[in-house]
Amino acid sequence: MPPAIAVPAQMRHIEAVTAGAPEVLRITTGPVPVAKVHEVLIRVAAAGVNRPDVLQREGKYPPPADASPLIGLEVAGTVVSVGAEVTQLHVGDRVTALTNGGGYAEYCVAPAVQCLPWPAGYDALRAAALPENYFTVWANLFVHGRMARGESVLVHGGTSGIGVTAIQLAREFGARVYATAGSDEKCAACLALGADGAINYRSADFAASIAELTGGTGVNVVLDIVGAPYFEQNLRCLAMDGRLVQVAVMHGAKVEQFDLSRVMQRRLVITGSTMRPRTASQKGAIAQALREQVWPVLGSGRCAPVVHATFPLAEAAAAHRLMESSAHIGKIMLSVGD
Ligand SMILES: NC(=O)c1ccc[n+]([C@@H]2O[C@H](COP(=O)([O-])OP(=O)(O)OC[C@H]3O[C@@H](n4cnc5c(N)ncnc54)[C@H](OP(=O)(O)O)[C@@H]3O)[C@@H](O)[C@H]2O)c1
Repeated sequence: MPPAIAVPAQMRHIEAVTAGAPEVLRITTGPVPVAKVHEVLIRVAAAGVNRPDVLQREGKYPPPADASPLIGLEVAGTVVSVGAEVTQLHVGDRVTALTNGGGYAEYCVAPAVQCLPWPAGYDALRAAALPENYFTVWANLFVHGRMARGESVLVHGGTSGIGVTAIQLAREFGARVYATAGSDEKCAACLALGADGAINYRSADFAASIAELTGGTGVNVVLDIVGAPYFEQNLRCLAMDGRLVQVAVMHGAKVEQFDLSRVMQRRLVITGSTMRPRTASQKGAIAQALREQVWPVLGSGRCAPVVHATFPLAEAAAAHRLMESSAHIGKIMLSVGD
């Protein structure tokens, strides 16, 4: 039996004093959470910042009823206690976890099935940069989007946390990848990540560019975070039997009018999903697929998270300001402990 690790009663964590601008995020002290029977308690070394955290801070994405009210969907660190029915993890194990909330803290609980080991050669910071984007991209691009080897995909927001992951995984699993981004510098970053083509959406019509890049055929899958303003153009980008996968609606959810005949003529599928409301067993199934198919690739160095900037936990507000500026390429991280 591994030696017990002492756990304090109190920890530092970030709280949102009210819904609002980044300044509502303050460092404070509160009780260390206790692992339930199927959970582990993790001493957090690093936590990831994700766009859904910004929405939660603004009061637009309330946490599920049974989740921590604290912000933070991914952490990496050391297991310091395990719930009564956890058999696969032990005190002292180094894990990275998709949490149900509470990641901006020195200690965080997560269902054991949502934990994965650090890939070979990874430190806490890089390990913590993985879960939210890898769970989301795997579920949406490969499961709902059914992306297959030899197909092609258009990834919107190619330098977002989601976009970087999608470009890398799509390439690794044998697809041709096109990406959109909001500047020439970001387009260059998409190409450096392995995209076959990158379109600056501020200076070009991306649907026309995709038609040109694919010789008029279109792509098999579009992974979209923009929403309503892109909907019609997204459908125009799709080849026969194409799939539009919606993972966010950053610029609007409501499409006023659209012509269903295009869906019939090209046998299109419109799908999408959210990660957070899924059950632990559904998230556990994704974790298992990642462990088998993606973790070896990460460990070999063929795909790797891109960390743009790291802030101390107490400076979570500055991390959110950077995310809202969209100046970043890849991940924004919080450094929490040792
Ligand atoms: N469904 C799920 O389960 C799930 C899970 C995680 C995240 N998400 C969502 O996925 C989105 C991305 O999350 P993230 O954490 O990766 O965010 P992020 O790193 O902050 O990226 C957001 C990106 O959107 C890009 N963007 C804005 N307007 C655009 C446009 N018109 N066309 C193309 N790109 C545009 C911005 O880059 P530019 O400078 O290029 O505009 C920015 O890089 C968020 O909306 C988030 O809520 C969904």
